[in-house]
Amino acid sequence: MYRTHTCGELRSEHIGQAITLAGWVQKTRDLGGMTFVDLRDRYGITQVVFNMDEDSALCEQARKAGREFVLQVTGEVIERSSKNPNMPTGDIEIKATDLVVLNASKTPPFTIENDTDGGEDLRMTYRYLDLRRQEVRDNIMLRHRVGAATRTYLNSQGFLDIETPFLIKSTPEGARDFVVPSRMNEGQFYALPQSPQTFKQLLMVSGFDKYYQITRCFRDEDLRADRQPEFTQIDCEMAFVEQEDILNTFEGLIRHLFQVEKGIDLPKFERMQFDDAMRLYGSDKPDIRFGMPFSELTDLVQGKGFVVFDSVEAIIGINAKGCADYTRKQLDGLTDWVKRPQIGMKGLVYVKCNADGSFKSSVDKFYSQDDLKAWAERFGAQPGDLILVLAGDLHKTRKALGELRLEMGERLGLRDKGTYKCLWVMDFPLLEWDEDTERYHAMHHPFTSPKPEDLDKIDTAPGEVKANAYDMVINGVEVGGGSIRIHDRGLQSRMFDLLGFSKEEAQAQFGFLMGAFEYGAPPHGGIAFGFDRLCSLFGGADSIRDFIAFPKNNSGRDVMLDAPAPVDEAQLKELAIQLR
Ligand code: AMO
Repeated sequence: MYRTHTCGELRSEHIGQAITLAGWVQKTRDLGGMTFVDLRDRYGITQVVFNMDEDSALCEQARKAGREFVLQVTGEVIERSSKNPNMPTGDIEIKATDLVVLNASKTPPFTIENDTDGGEDLRMTYRYLDLRRQEVRDNIMLRHRVGAATRTYLNSQGFLDIETPFLIKSTPEGARDFVVPSRMNEGQFYALPQSPQTFKQLLMVSGFDKYYQITRCFRDEDLRADRQPEFTQIDCEMAFVEQEDILNTFEGLIRHLFQVEKGIDLPKFERMQFDDAMRLYGSDKPDIRFGMPFSELTDLVQGKGFVVFDSVEAIIGINAKGCADYTRKQLDGLTDWVKRPQIGMKGLVYVKCNADGSFKSSVDKFYSQDDLKAWAERFGAQPGDLILVLAGDLHKTRKALGELRLEMGERLGLRDKGTYKCLWVMDFPLLEWDEDTERYHAMHHPFTSPKPEDLDKIDTAPGEVKANAYDMVINGVEVGGGSIRIHDRGLQSRMFDLLGFSKEEAQAQFGFLMGAFEYGAPPHGGIAFGFDRLCSLFGGADSIRDFIAFPKNNSGRDVMLDAPAPVDEAQLKELAIQLR
């Protein structure tokens, strides 16, 4: 037996017991007569003491054990003379009687501490060492717990965990596919699934009626803090359900996860129409931990000689409460902030609502005190508030103001990581017009069902048709999305027409699904959650990378493996692939 206990479990009640531990050397302190070794494993750290007077050979051996050596230590649990209240094992230490070096270690390239001296690249190259650091290990353990709690909940609701293939034909979810060449079928490729979407729908046709899978999805898209090329979804589908059944079931899942992981009982989730989300917050994933909704000024401010306002489609603003004391420098800073290429606005108009009831604005030349008073009324602004206004084309201005709202929320400390506000965003448009290709795209995916009451608009005004589609948004993060699906062959075929597929293309790509719809497809719908995003939310982090054991970097590389990498000439030949 390598060990009788772990390095995280010994307490005062074990005092007097003979034990054996195995673990890694966190640090060694040599105090002359005594040598202390902090031994670490996944469970914690225990202090081991070697006494020169009692066994000098053993003590010498301990002194030689460098950081990250793997040791097996046998000894007696004794009470510590100077207890460490910050460590769960801080009341005791091990008086060593035997020591075996199970393996030596080179000095690690960075310190295995929460506050490490290793940069991102170095830590990713030695990810197996990075994973030894407590905070990274905690994240991976959190991920395990959230996964286990997800299974417990869905199993208890009668869902079946069913695997679907990774080597498939492309499923359009809006990103590019990763493709895999087939050796046995020269010149042909599999695609890795962007999600198991069509398979879960087929499982409904097969009659499994409640499916889930915690599964990997692959998308060749531009990466950000909350996006990885391979990521994990909690993918779910149900048959014989309406939208309301799905919302309730999965609100239940998220509530369960919050109870288990955070001990929080969430109130019923708020709901918001997509159109309202865009109008009030400029985003389909508004952070509702704070208010600061948009007010539109267009009708109020045009025609007063201010060309910038007169020449644009939309003039919208927010009220930053209590910010009227912003200095010139701070306001210039905000103006520079909205002018950054990421935001892309030409300028920022402000109105300070002074304590004495007067107004000071950046457009005083064009607007009287009475005009500005009317603006303030529109915002419900009080003395002491600061109105910030952006102008431009509607879509771009909403987006930019949405970003500015988040920035102001951040600066005002309104986005507390320990507060969770969950929101269903509902009734997304079915289609989105793409200027570049001059075609409609499915806003969610081509299998999403239009709202029955909008069906008559599908030919006359397709852009106005709303879908039975919903996203779950927590603290401004889109953690999940889904829809009620089309289960009628005719309607699915019409949808492909709208999306610009020829009959032949639709048949070639989705014939299998439309064929299945001819064999008794039940009404069905579902949702998928971004598992990595949920974990990072629970862990209070912005990046999902910290919650993935072996993530890719921002260029989609695994720096530890040095992948992607070229393959042998012979391999290419076998696959009949010629490189340019
Ligand atoms: P969707 O494309 O909205 O829907 O994806 C569902 C959820 O997956 C997460 N997500 C990602 N997480 C990390 N990295 C990425 N690159 C990434 N892309 C998406 C998000 C998102 O909300 N088949 C449909 C679901 C359905 O209709 O049932 C789908 O995949 O949290």
